[in-house]
Amino acid sequence: MKTINIAIDGPSGAGKSSISKAVAEELGFIHVDTGAMYRAIGLYALRHDCISPEQMISHLPEIHIELKFIGGVQRVLLCGEDVTDYIRSPEVSMAASAVSAIPEVRAHLLDLQKKIASENNIIMDGRDIGTVILPSADLKIFLTASAEERASRRYLELREKPDCPSYEEILKDILQRDENDMHRETAPLRQAEDAVVIDSSDLGFHLVVETITRLIKEKLD
Ligand code: DC
Repeated sequence: MKTINIAIDGPSGAGKSSISKAVAEELGFIHVDTGAMYRAIGLYALRHDCISPEQMISHLPEIHIELKFIGGVQRVLLCGEDVTDYIRSPEVSMAASAVSAIPEVRAHLLDLQKKIASENNIIMDGRDIGTVILPSADLKIFLTASAEERASRRYLELREKPDCPSYEEILKDILQRDENDMHRETAPLRQAEDAVVIDSSDLGFHLVVETITRLIKEKLD
């Protein structure tokens, strides 16, 4: 059976995950958040003090990543442990960014990502989905927003929490992750030539969800 594959790429904090989730719900597709896989490996690196790429690579044979979908919602399992609730801290974000630059780590996740796409109708979000993982996706979206807008959205999300970082710290973190994701040698973040670019800096959440849902429906008609 031919499955429907939609690729959504873009920088950190552009809203890819929440928007992909809403679009997937609307269409009855599965939303696959590939960043969660890199985050799970980042968590592993922190727990096992894997500081150098060589250390990380030597641990890869022990690292088993699985995804489960409960009521359409993704859970990520690291060696059988559900780590979904432990992978959103700033430390794990930085560790995920670092491990995702290691080609062997990317290769470790490639088959799993392709397999899920070949078996399900999916909206898959990440950095290299349209360029590397699903080059023949039915539709590719590059979802972006200015770094300042992404930092201010993140700040609004976090500001009620204890130890909330300042806006300036969040912006610095976002700029650093953009730099890592765009300038690494393997599968850097870039727009696929045939991607539709959506800059959400001045667009509300619902408008972006509606626009992407419409683009997908038009493509499938
Ligand atoms: O989307 P996110 O912020 O949860 O992703 C976490 C890190 O993983 C981010 O630094 C970029 C990296 N990543 C990647 O290199 N390739 C992907 N397909 C998804 C995420």
